[in-house]
Amino acid sequence: MPLVKTAEIVSPGTGIAAFNVITLEHAEAIIAGAEETGRPVICQISENAVRFHHGRLAPIAAATRALAESSSARVALHLDHVTDEALLRQAADHGFGSVMYDGSRHDYAENVRRTAEAAAWARSQGLWLEAELGEIGGKDGAHAPGVRTDPGEAARFTAETAVDALAVAVGSSHAMTERTAELDHDLIRRLRDALPVPLVLHGSSGVPDGELRRAVAAGMVKINIGTALNKAFTGAVAEHLPSRVDPRAYLAPARDAMAATVAHLLRVVSG
Ligand code: G3H
Ligand code: ZN
Repeated sequence: MPLVKTAEIVSPGTGIAAFNVITLEHAEAIIAGAEETGRPVICQISENAVRFHHGRLAPIAAATRALAESSSARVALHLDHVTDEALLRQAADHGFGSVMYDGSRHDYAENVRRTAEAAAWARSQGLWLEAELGEIGGKDGAHAPGVRTDPGEAARFTAETAVDALAVAVGSSHAMTERTAELDHDLIRRLRDALPVPLVLHGSSGVPDGELRRAVAAGMVKINIGTALNKAFTGAVAEHLPSRVDPRAYLAPARDAMAATVAHLLRVVSG
């Protein structure tokens, strides 16, 4: 079916998983998992992934879009963790329904200025804009261990920028390979009550199933997952690589392992 807009499948009160696409196999696996479970899904391509593809967004975006359009699943395309404004503006040309503008490394005033500009542009293109409020002086943005979003500051930031969704820091951190994160569920509830927009959890690979379920019940909506797929991919490659020459011998099980991870997490996040 045609791509759906992110705004059509994000609805407060329900969890929706967004998985990072790096290779064609990631996109195939994410969409296979969505088909198997009957859940809608967001395929997201990050600025880092674009850098991996030699700075070209079009090929991986076109491949993901073509897979989505030949699938029975409801799939939206999201451009993730964008800091480069030229890349942000390419979202409108490749079927993306949403973009995350990541100004979290800037101080508050500069983040507001840049994010408000990005949100106004996104609105003019019919795109949904997610943003992140950074830790002042922090090197890793809001998703570093120990950082927490202040509900009052987040409400002010949301009002000043007119964004459609906000990534909040409640205990997860990026690129965890073990699922040991403990979330602050009371803070999630306070953020849900204080903000008029859906909450986004980044770094969800490190969050155990039970914590993810509780996070969605407390008000978390978009659940971003990347490393869990890479862990499944690399584990399968390591197992099947020895003495193989044809990459299909290890890419096929790697793709299957990612699809199984996607299906599992879709069931956890979207009930
Ligand atoms: O924006 C993407 C996510 O925050 C992915 O984080 O790789 O730790 O799951 P993760
Ligand atoms: Zn993230």
